Amino acid sequence: MGAVGVLTAGGDCPGLNAAIRGVVTRVGADGVVVVGVEDGWAGLMDGRTAILTRDDVRGVLSRGGTILGTSRRDPYVHGDGLASVAATIDRTGIDRLIVIGGDGSLRTAARLQEEGVKIVGVPKTIDNDINGTDVSIGFHTAVQIVVDSLDRLTTTAESHNRVLVVEVMGRTAGWIAAYAGLAGGAEAILVPEVEGDYEGLAARIKARHRESHDYSVVVVAEGAAGPAGEVASLGMDLYGFERIGGVGPAAAIRLEELTGFEARPVILGHLQRGGSPTAFDRVLGARFGIAAAELALAGVSGVMVGLHGDEIAPVSLEEACREPRRLPPERLAEAAWFFA
Ligand code: F6P
Repeated sequence: MGAVGVLTAGGDCPGLNAAIRGVVTRVGADGVVVVGVEDGWAGLMDGRTAILTRDDVRGVLSRGGTILGTSRRDPYVHGDGLASVAATIDRTGIDRLIVIGGDGSLRTAARLQEEGVKIVGVPKTIDNDINGTDVSIGFHTAVQIVVDSLDRLTTTAESHNRVLVVEVMGRTAGWIAAYAGLAGGAEAILVPEVEGDYEGLAARIKARHRESHDYSVVVVAEGAAGPAGEVASLGMDLYGFERIGGVGPAAAIRLEELTGFEARPVILGHLQRGGSPTAFDRVLGARFGIAAAELALAGVSGVMVGLHGDEIAPVSLEEACREPRRLPPERLAEAAWFFA
């Protein structure tokens, strides 16, 4: 039997190290070698790997980021697909690969699987937009970071009678905005799934300031359309991946114009992905890592582990990355009960 490879690809998030630890511990317990791949697909393309032992994953549970490193390099976009990773796979003896990734990395995993590489996926992204699982690693921590920020921003909004517009991550889905907005008591939540009504929102803010509170906190997901009706693009990054951001400042300017109240934007950005994972993300990462290891050891591939209620079960990689998992309208409706 060959080795089990493990890599983390795409944007990092808190909880990845718990998943790596789960993989290394569970695979190692069966006496099978674990090969860690550095910097995601890039390490598989360049041949940068190292054998991981139980000692390498001691003390990593509380650490944010990924001890393996990650990147947005991709064998199909920046290489020749399977041909660009085959040499490393052969040299290291990897015959099963555990890919801890978001939708893009899992799509790449699905293509490699079709070409014969045996892969088990693990869902991670603070955006929580992967199908086939109730929740992805990193989401819970990101929500907590945003809620802590909203608590702080609320007191300064209140002191200055301002409208604070807080831009959070969420390219295709408003999960972070909705959950953090509800938990942090936001007055409005703007998400990619729903067309923004800035005039209606301004009217609501004016009524609120007249009748009860004279400050407001608005949470907007980075992928929500701005006042001009478009998603704010920052162009392409070095890997050809579209960077988005800036809807918060545009929304703040428009709301200031429409309401006559002073408005300030805050972009939380990569703060949401940094630092120590919550207990929930440590447990989720560990459980996913162990479950993925067990599937790989049993010879199962072409699947991603997913959380369904409290149970972990595999779903096909193809189903997991068919389309983004959108926020159900009920979540927004529930949050709206607290708008006033
Ligand atoms: O995919 C997760 C995510 O956090 C998105 O919400 C965000 O748009 C993107 O990553 C930012 O990626 P990068 O780290 O490459 O700037």
